[in-house]
Amino acid sequence: MSQENEPARPPTGVGLEGLRTAAAGCRACELWEPATQTVFGEGPETARIVFVGEQPGDQEDRRGEPFVGPAGRLLDRALGDAGIDRRDAYITNAVKHFRFTPKGKRRIHQTPGPEHLRACRPWLESEFAVLQPEVVVCLGATAAKALISPSFRITKDRGQLLPWTPPGVAAAAVEPADDDEDAPHQTWMLATTHPSAILRTPDEARDAAYDALVADLTVVAHALA
Ligand code: URA
Repeated sequence: MSQENEPARPPTGVGLEGLRTAAAGCRACELWEPATQTVFGEGPETARIVFVGEQPGDQEDRRGEPFVGPAGRLLDRALGDAGIDRRDAYITNAVKHFRFTPKGKRRIHQTPGPEHLRACRPWLESEFAVLQPEVVVCLGATAAKALISPSFRITKDRGQLLPWTPPGVAAAAVEPADDDEDAPHQTWMLATTHPSAILRTPDEARDAAYDALVADLTVVAHALA
């Protein structure tokens, strides 16, 4: 994608299923071409919590669902240990096509560039606009830098609940009146390690890295309780 390419232009007023259908034909950047399919977010429209990863991996690209490969299995275990039911959450990615370099029969993950994040961002904004989440969890640096700040450091700033206004959601910064369920509410953001980073952690440090992820997710579980 060149700098001049336009970001995606999602339709409005179509709900998550309408967005998913539209995103299936997204050509806003070049990643669509070698990828198998768009991997849109998944979860109920009533979800109070949204998890944002980086981009689909090899298995997600083949199956068309986010976090269903090795990183997804680790995420599922950590969610269970923190007392969060994945079926209550909405899980998505900052970029919705798999970026990779072919190497023989393998496809090697490549981190998406700023141009891919920029092209894909309107889909994420549309997901937030429909879901109006109470808590957004960034899984890893790519999501945190895209949604919080380019200077965000997971190692330093992880595990803290920060007040946050989702891009694309207007004036979400006040608590709702008790009698107005549709009023905007405060959204919270928390960033934590990407599950793939835990899988890459050397054996001797992996349990501690996993426990730290569960501790961060427990903060989220308590915020939702
Ligand atoms: N890693 C991600 O960031 N997202 C997925 O969906 C799978 C692996």
